[in-house]
Amino acid sequence: MPLQVLPLSVSDFEQLVHHADFGEPGDDCVAPPNPVAWPVTTRSEAQLRARCAFSLQKRRLLCDPTVHFLKVVDKKEAGSNTDEDDIIAVARWHHYPQGYEYNLEATWEMAPETITPLLPYMIDETSDSLLSSYPPPNFNLALHNYILSERDAFRSQWIPQQKPCWLLMHLATRPSNRMRGAASLLIRWGLAKATEANEPAYLEAGATARPIYEKFGFKQVGELRKLDLGFYGLDAYFELSNMKYNPQEAISNGEPTYL
Ligand SMILES: CC(C)(COP(=O)(O)OP(=O)(O)OC[C@H]1O[C@@H](n2cnc3c(N)ncnc32)[C@H](O)[C@@H]1OP(=O)(O)O)[C@@H](O)C(=O)NCCC(=O)NCCS
Repeated sequence: MPLQVLPLSVSDFEQLVHHADFGEPGDDCVAPPNPVAWPVTTRSEAQLRARCAFSLQKRRLLCDPTVHFLKVVDKKEAGSNTDEDDIIAVARWHHYPQGYEYNLEATWEMAPETITPLLPYMIDETSDSLLSSYPPPNFNLALHNYILSERDAFRSQWIPQQKPCWLLMHLATRPSNRMRGAASLLIRWGLAKATEANEPAYLEAGATARPIYEKFGFKQVGELRKLDLGFYGLDAYFELSNMKYNPQEAISNGEPTYL
């Protein structure tokens, strides 16, 4: 059925969390760096991760006025036995009309050491036994917070101060629904807004997603950054490509535009 982009509402977090209750563990819209810092293989691992990750996202939707949280739904056929459209992808775009404020923005995404700060944002039926296992042994909390704090701290070096801009952060399509064009719809939504306002759009891309953003006209700013995860127990690097879409430049170069 046709895919449609809509604003994500607070009540949608129930469905996003419930994705972890069926299908393959991890077939949900939990975004990076969670798959690296908090890999899941069992149902209960996936359920706890979804409940915690989306409570942070729900807090952000409720408390951060810069957020434009979007979903892609797969519209149900007429006569289908459920009314609810499936959410197959989400994106969190932000608009900073006065420019990105490094000091205000730096701590939103940090995972807490205990479950307490997340509780007000949990969906109601999250069980006590699930919650008492936070943080679980498969969650490398220090690694999670290291990646995000490095990403955020570096913004002061490449996102200009006091200049209006758009920023894309949480983009994820459920693995079972990838390659259907959902992420493209979400990227285009923000690029249309940025073009309309004649303001640049920024993001940090991981290794897999970078070519996708390049197709949309994003260009890397500066060097590719490689965070060494050795100190956190992983023999790996986490790549971050700082990317910018400049509507004015795209128009003058005859590149794709999005109005
Ligand atoms: C990256 C991600 C959001 C793409 O979602 P998607 O809904 O499958 O993307 P789309 O179907 O809109 O595909 C967009 C384009 O990228 C291409 N593409 C998608 N996934 C790709 C992949 N893994 N490798 C290469 N190309 C890919 C598609 O072919 C399409 O190109 P086309 O328009 O020329 O055909 C999804 O793979 C995902 O959720 N990954 C994990 C989270 C993540 O990495 N988020 C981005 C953080 S920076």
